[in-house]
Amino acid sequence: MKSLLIVYHSQSGSCARLAGAAREGAGTEPGVEILLKRAWDAGVADLQGVDGLLLVAAENSGALSGGMKDFLDRTFYPAIDRALVLPYALLVSAGNDGRNAARQAGRILSGYPFPAAAETVILRGELDAAQLQAAAELGMAFAAGIAMGIF
Ligand SMILES: Cc1cc2nc3c(=O)[nH]c(=O)nc-3n(C[C@H](O)[C@H](O)[C@H](O)COP(=O)(O)O)c2cc1C
Repeated sequence: MKSLLIVYHSQSGSCARLAGAAREGAGTEPGVEILLKRAWDAGVADLQGVDGLLLVAAENSGALSGGMKDFLDRTFYPAIDRALVLPYALLVSAGNDGRNAARQAGRILSGYPFPAAAETVILRGELDAAQLQAAAELGMAFAAGIAMGIF
């Protein structure tokens, strides 16, 4: 059984809902177990043994949200020590930009080094059905790739 870990940080609940939608989408893929964790509750032990990592976070003040940055700061050296290499995908929720958060996360993750499994998705504006659908599709596509072993 393969597995996908979804880690999210959310202040208003938007990223939490997007992460939930990604989990639902990913859950349609048989043969892949989906694990969902808040960034504050996740650590390097959660990264060990999974086959992919989907991060869901907002851009805050022109940067990756603090909770997600904290998760990456806490796991960086422990992941290197364990020689973990995980394909990752990133979903950024933003008011009107999101590019700095995406750039910052991509730069940090390249240092683990984790390879990108998909183009980063930036969702701008109010959370709506289309955004939830996009999150579900990202989760589904990532889980399908994990199931097929293409990363
Ligand atoms: C303190 C704060 C700073 C923000 N800074 C930015 C920003 O720099 N760029 C942007 O596009 N959106 C910004 N936003 C909007 C959030 O990225 C957006 O509302 C997102 O959906 C929040 O998701 P969350 O509440 O689930 O964390 C900011 C929101 C807050 C509360």
